[in-house]
Amino acid sequence: MGVFASTDDPVSTGHEQVVFCQDKQSGLKAIIGIYSTALGPALGGTRFYPYASEADALADVLDLSRGMAYKNALANLDLGGGKAVIWGDPEQIKSEALLRAYGRFVESLNGRYYTACDVGTYVADMDVVARETRYVTGRSVEHGGAGDSSILTAWGVFQGMRAAAEHVWGSPTLAGRRVGVAGLGKVGKYLTAHLLDDGAEVVATDVNPRAREWARTAHPQVTLVDDTEALVTSDIDVYAPCALGGALNDDTVPVLRAKVVTGAANNQLAHPGIEKVLADRGILYTPDYVVNAGGVIQVADEIEGFNFDRAKLRATRIFDTTRQILRLADDEGVPPAVAADRLAERRMAEVGRLRTIHLR
Ligand SMILES: NC(=O)c1ccc[n+]([C@@H]2O[C@H](COP(=O)([O-])OP(=O)(O)OC[C@H]3O[C@@H](n4cnc5c(N)ncnc54)[C@H](O)[C@@H]3O)[C@@H](O)[C@H]2O)c1
Repeated sequence: MGVFASTDDPVSTGHEQVVFCQDKQSGLKAIIGIYSTALGPALGGTRFYPYASEADALADVLDLSRGMAYKNALANLDLGGGKAVIWGDPEQIKSEALLRAYGRFVESLNGRYYTACDVGTYVADMDVVARETRYVTGRSVEHGGAGDSSILTAWGVFQGMRAAAEHVWGSPTLAGRRVGVAGLGKVGKYLTAHLLDDGAEVVATDVNPRAREWARTAHPQVTLVDDTEALVTSDIDVYAPCALGGALNDDTVPVLRAKVVTGAANNQLAHPGIEKVLADRGILYTPDYVVNAGGVIQVADEIEGFNFDRAKLRATRIFDTTRQILRLADDEGVPPAVAADRLAERRMAEVGRLRTIHLR
Protein backbone atom coordinates (compact mmCIF):
# COMPACT_ATOMS: atom_id res chain seq x y z
CA MET A 1 0.00 0.00 0.00
CA GLY A 2 1.05 3.59 -0.41
CA VAL A 3 2.26 5.67 2.48
CA PHE A 4 0.27 5.10 5.62
CA ALA A 5 1.43 6.64 8.87
CA SER A 6 -0.92 5.35 11.52
CA THR A 7 -1.39 7.16 14.76
CA ASP A 8 -4.98 6.01 14.87
CA ASP A 9 -6.62 3.35 16.95
CA PRO A 10 -7.23 -0.12 15.46
CA VAL A 11 -10.95 0.45 15.04
CA SER A 12 -10.56 3.50 12.81
CA THR A 13 -7.77 1.84 10.80
CA GLY A 14 -10.03 -1.11 9.99
CA HIS A 15 -8.03 -3.90 11.64
CA GLU A 16 -9.86 -7.13 12.40
CA GLN A 17 -7.99 -7.94 15.56
CA VAL A 18 -5.13 -6.57 17.64
CA VAL A 19 -3.78 -8.75 20.41
CA PHE A 20 -1.59 -7.53 23.27
CA CYS A 21 0.55 -10.31 24.75
CA GLN A 22 2.56 -10.24 27.95
CA ASP A 23 4.66 -12.76 29.82
CA LYS A 24 6.24 -10.94 32.74
CA GLN A 25 8.78 -13.58 33.71
CA SER A 26 10.44 -13.81 30.30
CA GLY A 27 9.96 -10.06 29.65
CA LEU A 28 7.79 -10.63 26.58
CA LYS A 29 5.65 -7.71 25.47
CA ALA A 30 4.24 -8.25 22.01
CA ILE A 31 1.42 -6.93 19.85
CA ILE A 32 -0.02 -9.03 17.04
CA GLY A 33 -1.95 -7.04 14.44
CA ILE A 34 -4.33 -8.76 12.05
CA TYR A 35 -5.50 -6.34 9.42
CA SER A 36 -7.42 -8.74 7.21
CA THR A 37 -8.13 -12.44 6.83
CA ALA A 38 -10.35 -11.88 3.79
CA LEU A 39 -8.01 -13.95 1.61
CA GLY A 40 -6.88 -16.45 4.26
CA PRO A 41 -4.86 -16.57 7.47
CA ALA A 42 -2.89 -13.38 8.06
CA LEU A 43 0.85 -13.73 7.27
CA GLY A 44 3.59 -11.32 8.28
CA GLY A 45 6.85 -11.27 10.19
CA THR A 46 7.73 -10.42 13.77
CA ARG A 47 9.67 -7.19 14.28
CA PHE A 48 11.75 -7.20 17.47
CA TYR A 49 12.62 -3.60 18.19
CA PRO A 50 13.27 -1.27 21.16
CA TYR A 51 10.36 1.09 20.55
CA ALA A 52 10.40 4.28 22.60
CA SER A 53 6.83 3.67 23.78
CA GLU A 54 3.91 1.26 23.53
CA ALA A 55 2.17 3.80 21.30
CA ASP A 56 5.09 3.62 18.83
CA ALA A 57 4.98 -0.18 18.87
CA LEU A 58 1.23 -0.12 18.24
CA ALA A 59 1.50 2.42 15.41
CA ASP A 60 4.18 0.29 13.73
CA VAL A 61 2.25 -2.96 13.96
CA LEU A 62 -0.88 -1.31 12.60
CA ASP A 63 1.03 0.10 9.60
CA LEU A 64 2.99 -3.06 8.93
CA SER A 65 0.04 -5.45 9.19
CA ARG A 66 -2.02 -3.35 6.81
CA GLY A 67 0.91 -3.27 4.39
CA MET A 68 1.14 -7.06 4.49
CA ALA A 69 -2.53 -7.43 3.52
CA TYR A 70 -1.89 -5.40 0.36
CA LYS A 71 1.38 -7.15 -0.38
CA ASN A 72 -0.04 -10.65 0.04
CA ALA A 73 -3.11 -9.77 -2.01
CA LEU A 74 -1.01 -8.62 -4.96
CA ALA A 75 1.39 -11.55 -4.61
CA ASN A 76 -1.68 -13.65 -5.46
CA LEU A 77 -1.43 -15.54 -2.17
CA ASP A 78 -4.35 -17.08 -0.35
CA LEU A 79 -3.24 -15.24 2.74
CA GLY A 80 -4.35 -12.15 4.56
CA GLY A 81 -2.22 -9.49 6.20
CA GLY A 82 -0.81 -9.42 9.70
CA LYS A 83 2.34 -8.55 11.55
CA ALA A 84 3.69 -8.66 15.07
CA VAL A 85 6.05 -6.54 17.09
CA ILE A 86 7.99 -7.53 20.17
CA TRP A 87 8.76 -4.44 22.21
CA GLY A 88 12.32 -4.48 23.59
CA ASP A 89 15.97 -4.66 22.63
CA PRO A 90 16.62 -8.09 21.11
CA GLU A 91 20.28 -7.85 22.12
CA GLN A 92 19.23 -7.55 25.76
CA ILE A 93 16.09 -9.62 26.22
CA LYS A 94 15.83 -12.24 23.47
CA SER A 95 15.79 -15.69 25.09
CA GLU A 96 14.39 -19.17 24.52
CA ALA A 97 11.68 -18.57 27.11
CA LEU A 98 10.63 -15.24 25.57
CA LEU A 99 10.46 -16.65 22.03
CA ARG A 100 8.55 -19.74 23.20
CA ALA A 101 6.12 -17.60 25.19
CA TYR A 102 5.58 -15.60 22.01
CA GLY A 103 5.04 -18.86 20.09
CA ARG A 104 2.31 -19.88 22.52
CA PHE A 105 0.47 -16.60 21.94
CA VAL A 106 0.70 -17.17 18.17
CA GLU A 107 -0.62 -20.72 18.64
CA SER A 108 -3.51 -19.38 20.74
CA LEU A 109 -4.84 -17.59 17.64
CA ASN A 110 -5.53 -21.02 16.11
CA GLY A 111 -4.10 -20.23 12.69
CA ARG A 112 -5.60 -16.80 12.18
CA TYR A 113 -2.00 -15.50 12.07
CA TYR A 114 1.23 -17.02 10.67
CA THR A 115 4.45 -15.44 11.81
CA ALA A 116 7.89 -15.20 10.14
CA CYS A 117 11.15 -13.20 10.39
CA ASP A 118 11.46 -9.45 10.19
CA VAL A 119 13.89 -6.84 11.53
CA GLY A 120 15.46 -8.25 14.71
CA THR A 121 14.31 -11.85 14.22
CA TYR A 122 16.08 -14.60 12.29
CA VAL A 123 15.44 -18.11 10.99
CA ALA A 124 17.02 -19.55 14.16
CA ASP A 125 14.44 -17.60 16.21
CA MET A 126 11.59 -19.00 14.12
CA ASP A 127 12.91 -22.49 14.82
CA VAL A 128 12.47 -21.74 18.54
CA VAL A 129 9.02 -20.19 18.03
CA ALA A 130 8.08 -23.33 16.06
CA ARG A 131 8.56 -25.45 19.20
CA GLU A 132 5.33 -23.88 20.49
CA THR A 133 3.28 -23.20 17.39
CA ARG A 134 2.46 -24.69 14.01
CA TYR A 135 1.74 -21.25 12.63
CA VAL A 136 5.27 -20.16 11.81
CA THR A 137 7.23 -20.00 8.57
CA GLY A 138 10.67 -18.69 7.56
CA ARG A 139 12.42 -21.47 9.50
CA SER A 140 15.89 -22.86 8.77
CA VAL A 141 16.41 -25.47 6.07
CA GLU A 142 17.30 -28.04 8.76
CA HIS A 143 13.83 -27.53 10.25
CA GLY A 144 11.95 -27.79 6.97
CA GLY A 145 12.25 -24.11 6.16
CA ALA A 146 13.01 -22.47 2.84
CA GLY A 147 16.21 -20.62 3.83
CA ASP A 148 17.45 -17.35 2.33
CA SER A 149 14.51 -15.34 0.97
CA SER A 150 16.68 -12.74 -0.77
CA ILE A 151 17.19 -15.05 -3.79
CA LEU A 152 13.52 -14.89 -4.81
CA THR A 153 13.18 -11.28 -3.65
CA ALA A 154 15.89 -10.29 -6.14
CA TRP A 155 14.30 -12.44 -8.84
CA GLY A 156 10.93 -10.73 -8.30
CA VAL A 157 12.47 -7.24 -8.34
CA PHE A 158 14.15 -8.14 -11.64
CA GLN A 159 10.77 -9.24 -13.06
CA GLY A 160 9.14 -5.99 -11.95
CA MET A 161 11.95 -4.04 -13.57
CA ARG A 162 11.50 -5.96 -16.82
CA ALA A 163 7.80 -5.02 -16.83
CA ALA A 164 8.70 -1.36 -16.22
CA ALA A 165 11.26 -1.47 -19.06
CA GLU A 166 8.60 -2.86 -21.38
CA HIS A 167 6.21 -0.07 -20.36
CA VAL A 168 8.73 2.72 -20.90
CA TRP A 169 10.96 1.43 -23.70
CA GLY A 170 8.74 -1.17 -25.39
CA SER A 171 10.78 -4.29 -24.62
CA PRO A 172 10.91 -6.38 -21.39
CA THR A 173 14.67 -6.30 -21.03
CA LEU A 174 17.31 -4.21 -19.33
CA ALA A 175 19.84 -4.93 -22.07
CA GLY A 176 21.76 -1.78 -22.90
CA ARG A 177 20.26 0.19 -19.95
CA ARG A 178 22.28 1.71 -17.12
CA VAL A 179 20.87 0.55 -13.79
CA GLY A 180 21.91 2.19 -10.52
CA VAL A 181 21.81 -0.23 -7.56
CA ALA A 182 21.90 1.42 -4.12
CA GLY A 183 22.79 -1.27 -1.59
CA LEU A 184 24.79 -4.39 -2.45
CA GLY A 185 23.43 -6.49 0.40
CA LYS A 186 21.70 -9.86 0.18
CA VAL A 187 19.17 -8.71 -2.44
CA GLY A 188 21.34 -6.16 -4.27
CA LYS A 189 24.00 -8.78 -5.00
CA TYR A 190 21.59 -11.22 -6.64
CA LEU A 191 19.86 -8.40 -8.51
CA THR A 192 23.20 -7.17 -9.88
CA ALA A 193 23.92 -10.66 -11.24
CA HIS A 194 20.49 -10.85 -12.98
CA LEU A 195 21.01 -7.41 -14.52
CA LEU A 196 24.46 -8.24 -15.85
CA ASP A 197 23.15 -11.55 -17.26
CA ASP A 198 20.43 -9.57 -19.04
CA GLY A 199 23.00 -7.28 -20.66
CA ALA A 200 22.54 -4.20 -18.47
CA GLU A 201 25.31 -1.90 -17.32
CA VAL A 202 25.36 -1.62 -13.52
CA VAL A 203 26.40 1.40 -11.48
CA ALA A 204 26.32 0.72 -7.73
CA THR A 205 27.03 2.05 -4.28
CA ASP A 206 27.14 0.70 -0.73
CA VAL A 207 28.28 2.23 2.55
CA ASN A 208 29.88 -1.05 3.56
CA PRO A 209 33.46 -1.48 2.25
CA ARG A 210 33.01 -5.28 2.22
CA ALA A 211 30.06 -5.01 -0.15
CA ARG A 212 32.11 -2.76 -2.43
CA GLU A 213 34.96 -5.26 -2.34
CA TRP A 214 32.51 -8.03 -3.27
CA ALA A 215 31.50 -6.04 -6.38
CA ARG A 216 35.11 -5.41 -7.40
CA THR A 217 35.92 -9.09 -7.14
CA ALA A 218 32.72 -10.78 -8.35
CA HIS A 219 31.75 -8.29 -11.06
CA PRO A 220 34.66 -6.00 -12.01
CA GLN A 221 32.53 -4.52 -14.81
CA VAL A 222 30.26 -2.80 -12.22
CA THR A 223 31.00 0.92 -11.85
CA LEU A 224 31.14 1.91 -8.18
CA VAL A 225 30.24 5.44 -7.10
CA ASP A 226 30.82 7.08 -3.71
CA ASP A 227 27.28 7.40 -2.37
CA THR A 228 23.58 7.46 -3.18
CA GLU A 229 23.71 11.15 -4.08
CA ALA A 230 26.31 10.42 -6.76
CA LEU A 231 24.22 7.47 -7.95
CA VAL A 232 20.91 9.31 -8.36
CA THR A 233 22.53 12.27 -10.15
CA SER A 234 24.49 10.04 -12.53
CA ASP A 235 23.32 9.17 -16.01
CA ILE A 236 21.22 6.11 -15.13
CA ASP A 237 18.05 4.80 -16.81
CA VAL A 238 16.79 2.84 -13.79
CA TYR A 239 17.25 3.46 -10.06
CA ALA A 240 17.07 0.37 -7.83
CA PRO A 241 16.91 1.28 -4.11
CA CYS A 242 18.03 -1.87 -2.29
CA ALA A 243 19.16 -0.44 1.06
CA LEU A 244 16.93 1.34 3.56
CA GLY A 245 13.43 2.85 3.39
CA GLY A 246 12.71 6.48 2.43
CA ALA A 247 14.95 6.38 -0.66
CA LEU A 248 12.48 8.49 -2.63
CA ASN A 249 12.46 11.78 -0.76
CA ASP A 250 12.64 15.54 -1.25
CA ASP A 251 16.41 15.35 -1.80
CA THR A 252 16.58 12.48 -4.27
CA VAL A 253 13.42 12.77 -6.40
CA PRO A 254 14.06 16.33 -7.76
CA VAL A 255 17.57 15.38 -8.97
CA LEU A 256 16.92 11.80 -10.05
CA ARG A 257 17.89 11.23 -13.69
CA ALA A 258 16.41 7.74 -14.07
CA LYS A 259 13.15 7.16 -15.94
CA VAL A 260 12.26 4.10 -13.84
CA VAL A 261 12.50 3.29 -10.13
CA THR A 262 12.30 -0.40 -9.19
CA GLY A 263 13.99 -1.75 -6.10
CA ALA A 264 13.78 -4.10 -3.14
CA ALA A 265 13.79 -1.64 -0.25
CA ASN A 266 10.60 -1.44 1.79
CA ASN A 267 8.77 1.86 2.19
CA GLN A 268 10.67 3.72 -0.51
CA LEU A 269 8.21 6.65 -0.62
CA ALA A 270 9.38 8.95 2.18
CA HIS A 271 6.05 10.75 2.58
CA PRO A 272 2.56 10.93 1.09
CA GLY A 273 2.56 12.89 -2.15
CA ILE A 274 6.09 12.01 -3.25
CA GLU A 275 4.65 9.46 -5.72
CA LYS A 276 2.88 12.40 -7.41
CA VAL A 277 6.18 14.31 -7.69
CA LEU A 278 7.72 11.25 -9.34
CA ALA A 279 4.82 11.02 -11.78
CA ASP A 280 5.02 14.76 -12.57
CA ARG A 281 8.71 14.34 -13.40
CA GLY A 282 7.83 11.49 -15.77
CA ILE A 283 9.52 8.87 -13.59
CA LEU A 284 7.82 5.48 -13.48
CA TYR A 285 7.80 4.03 -9.96
CA THR A 286 6.89 0.39 -9.51
CA PRO A 287 5.47 0.07 -5.97
CA ASP A 288 8.01 -1.53 -3.63
CA TYR A 289 5.54 -3.90 -2.01
CA VAL A 290 4.62 -5.34 -5.41
CA VAL A 291 8.09 -5.98 -6.76
CA ASN A 292 9.73 -7.12 -3.51
CA ALA A 293 7.11 -9.80 -2.79
CA GLY A 294 9.45 -12.68 -3.77
CA GLY A 295 10.45 -13.07 -0.11
CA VAL A 296 6.90 -13.41 1.18
CA ILE A 297 6.08 -15.70 -1.73
CA GLN A 298 8.92 -17.92 -0.53
CA VAL A 299 7.83 -18.05 3.12
CA ALA A 300 4.22 -18.59 2.05
CA ASP A 301 5.32 -21.53 -0.09
CA GLU A 302 7.02 -23.02 2.96
CA ILE A 303 3.61 -23.40 4.60
CA GLU A 304 2.73 -25.92 1.84
CA GLY A 305 6.13 -27.67 2.12
CA PHE A 306 8.76 -25.67 0.29
CA ASN A 307 9.27 -26.25 -3.42
CA PHE A 308 11.80 -23.83 -4.93
CA ASP A 309 10.64 -24.23 -8.53
CA ARG A 310 7.00 -23.58 -7.63
CA ALA A 311 7.97 -20.54 -5.55
CA LYS A 312 10.18 -19.20 -8.34
CA LEU A 313 7.33 -19.56 -10.82
CA ARG A 314 5.11 -17.56 -8.47
CA ALA A 315 7.79 -14.89 -8.09
CA THR A 316 8.19 -14.75 -11.88
CA ARG A 317 4.53 -13.69 -12.07
CA ILE A 318 5.52 -10.39 -10.45
CA PHE A 319 6.23 -9.44 -14.09
CA ASP A 320 2.53 -9.86 -14.99
CA THR A 321 1.27 -8.13 -11.86
CA THR A 322 3.54 -5.14 -12.40
CA ARG A 323 2.46 -4.92 -16.03
CA GLN A 324 -1.21 -5.04 -14.98
CA ILE A 325 -0.66 -2.25 -12.44
CA LEU A 326 1.14 -0.01 -14.93
CA ARG A 327 -1.65 -0.46 -17.46
CA LEU A 328 -4.32 0.25 -14.85
CA ALA A 329 -2.42 3.38 -13.79
CA ASP A 330 -2.45 4.62 -17.38
CA ASP A 331 -6.13 3.73 -17.87
CA GLU A 332 -7.25 5.43 -14.66
CA GLY A 333 -4.79 8.34 -14.85
CA VAL A 334 -3.29 7.68 -11.41
CA PRO A 335 0.27 6.94 -10.20
CA PRO A 336 1.15 3.19 -10.10
CA ALA A 337 1.17 3.30 -6.28
CA VAL A 338 -2.52 4.23 -6.33
CA ALA A 339 -3.32 1.67 -9.03
CA ALA A 340 -1.62 -1.07 -6.99
CA ASP A 341 -3.66 -0.19 -3.91
CA ARG A 342 -6.85 -0.31 -5.96
CA LEU A 343 -5.99 -3.71 -7.43
CA ALA A 344 -5.18 -5.14 -4.00
CA GLU A 345 -8.42 -3.77 -2.52
CA ARG A 346 -10.36 -5.19 -5.46
CA ARG A 347 -8.93 -8.69 -4.90
CA MET A 348 -9.56 -8.55 -1.15
CA ALA A 349 -13.16 -7.49 -1.77
CA GLU A 350 -13.96 -9.82 -4.69
CA VAL A 351 -12.30 -12.96 -3.35
CA GLY A 352 -13.02 -12.18 0.29
CA ARG A 353 -16.73 -11.87 -0.53
CA LEU A 354 -16.80 -15.54 -1.57
CA ARG A 355 -16.68 -16.48 2.12
CA THR A 356 -20.32 -15.47 2.24
CA ILE A 357 -21.14 -18.56 0.11
CA HIS A 358 -21.63 -20.98 2.97
CA LEU A 359 -20.41 -24.54 2.59
CA ARG A 360 -22.51 -26.12 5.32
N1 LIG B 1 15.88 -9.96 1.99
C1 LIG B 1 14.62 -10.04 1.57
O1 LIG B 1 14.11 -11.12 1.25
C2 LIG B 1 13.78 -8.79 1.44
C3 LIG B 1 12.42 -8.92 1.10
C4 LIG B 1 11.64 -7.77 0.93
C5 LIG B 1 12.23 -6.52 1.12
N2 LIG B 1 13.56 -6.42 1.47
C6 LIG B 1 14.11 -5.09 1.66
O2 LIG B 1 15.16 -4.87 0.72
C7 LIG B 1 16.19 -4.07 1.30
C8 LIG B 1 17.50 -4.82 1.22
O3 LIG B 1 17.38 -6.04 1.91
P1 LIG B 1 18.64 -6.99 2.14
O4 LIG B 1 18.10 -8.26 2.67
O5 LIG B 1 19.49 -7.01 0.90
O6 LIG B 1 19.39 -6.21 3.30
P2 LIG B 1 20.94 -6.19 3.64
O7 LIG B 1 21.06 -5.63 5.00
O8 LIG B 1 21.57 -7.51 3.33
O9 LIG B 1 21.54 -5.15 2.57
C9 LIG B 1 21.39 -3.77 2.63
C10 LIG B 1 22.66 -3.16 2.07
O10 LIG B 1 22.47 -1.74 1.99
C11 LIG B 1 23.67 -1.10 2.41
N3 LIG B 1 23.34 0.26 2.82
C12 LIG B 1 22.80 0.69 3.98
N4 LIG B 1 22.66 2.03 3.96
C13 LIG B 1 23.10 2.46 2.75
C14 LIG B 1 23.20 3.72 2.13
N5 LIG B 1 22.82 4.84 2.73
N6 LIG B 1 23.71 3.80 0.88
C15 LIG B 1 24.12 2.65 0.25
N7 LIG B 1 24.05 1.43 0.79
C16 LIG B 1 23.55 1.33 2.01
C17 LIG B 1 24.19 -1.99 3.53
O11 LIG B 1 25.59 -1.77 3.75
C18 LIG B 1 23.88 -3.38 2.98
O12 LIG B 1 24.96 -3.89 2.22
C19 LIG B 1 15.70 -3.75 2.73
O13 LIG B 1 15.03 -2.52 2.71
C20 LIG B 1 14.74 -4.88 3.02
O14 LIG B 1 13.77 -4.49 3.99
C21 LIG B 1 14.33 -7.52 1.61
